[in-house]
Amino acid sequence: MTPSASPPLAPSERLLCGPGPTNVDPAALAAMQRPMLGHMDPELHEIISEVVRMLRLVYKAPEGLVLPLQATGTTGMETGLLNLTEPGDTVVVGASGYFGRRLIEIARRAGCEVVEVVEDWGVHVPNERLLEALDAHPETALLAVVHGETSTGSLHPLAVLGEALKDRPGTLLMADCVTTLGGTTIDVGGWGVDYAYSCTQKCVGSAPGMSPVAVSEAAIERFEVRATPVPFSFDFDLLRKYWVGRPAAYHHTAPILHIYALYEVLRETLTEGVDERCARHVAAGTHLQQRVRDAGLDLLAEPEHQLAQLSAVKVPGGVDGKSVAAELLTEHGIEIGGGLPGAPAMWRIGLMGPNATEATADRVCDALIGVLEAKDAPISA
Ligand SMILES: Cc1ncc(COP(=O)(O)O)c(C=O)c1O
Repeated sequence: MTPSASPPLAPSERLLCGPGPTNVDPAALAAMQRPMLGHMDPELHEIISEVVRMLRLVYKAPEGLVLPLQATGTTGMETGLLNLTEPGDTVVVGASGYFGRRLIEIARRAGCEVVEVVEDWGVHVPNERLLEALDAHPETALLAVVHGETSTGSLHPLAVLGEALKDRPGTLLMADCVTTLGGTTIDVGGWGVDYAYSCTQKCVGSAPGMSPVAVSEAAIERFEVRATPVPFSFDFDLLRKYWVGRPAAYHHTAPILHIYALYEVLRETLTEGVDERCARHVAAGTHLQQRVRDAGLDLLAEPEHQLAQLSAVKVPGGVDGKSVAAELLTEHGIEIGGGLPGAPAMWRIGLMGPNATEATADRVCDALIGVLEAKDAPISA
């Protein structure tokens, strides 16, 4: 048999309105077609230094270490736990969804004693419960929460938690900002967050493949004095010698085209204004949520803790949620998400990065309501 090549790549155009990835900002796509530089080229190192400078502004992290890991959100989570804890350390985790549970799982695998503070899907974990857990475990090395729980659409009151932890300097505050960076106000420096990690494929509006992180001075001290080594690929001490140290020291081959893409979306974010970009996400999400409620559908998250950029819509009784999502994809070219394992039946609609507009919200709502009406679903639209 003659070996034959596959046909040329021709992925379909989709409107990506699930929990992420979102559609890539055209400026990021264009950036990925610029000439490649070598990973030890000083010109690339200048570009990286600019990426780090701009990331500091987006995270509002004037101090400490800021860099984009060559990783996804999950690896950002794991890298933090591996650097900032040692086996046997007590870690308190607030979890009320899939990603909080993932934090628990990864902390356990890192050898930590995990104290779980758990609430039901869509119910945020009250800060009072987290502080009670710290009172019961004053030896706690690190407290971790999910700022924006993408599996439920719930927003954690992180600023208030950060304030409450300021008189507990022995406990580092770690926040999952995978869904919030670039879409919800984050003030790493002001709120006293010791470790924040994110991704590039959601509100930042670039391609998946990088995990921007911010590490406080207190967290840096923690990894500098550790007794046990961090696995090589995750070691902040080695990573910073490439991303921040100059001249740069080789650690791994950097994802050069992803760095270009990140550079461009950060530039766009600062040109738009970080707060203005977050306000755009709030306006789009609020519009979508109002239309969902007007159609007689219910949201999973508590209204006062509703994330803007991710709306978890409960699937009405008698409706096959998966077939509705499949029809949106095949008939309308619109991707929305479903519930993650263990979650109640839901659709997860994301308006992130370039898709955080009221026009996109209307396009998704019109299509969803049209599909539901055609199925005689119990809605009031
Ligand atoms: C809140 C949250 N944390 C962590 C992750 C994991 O990120 P990734 O899929 O990029 O590894 C996700 C992914 O959707 C997420 O939404």
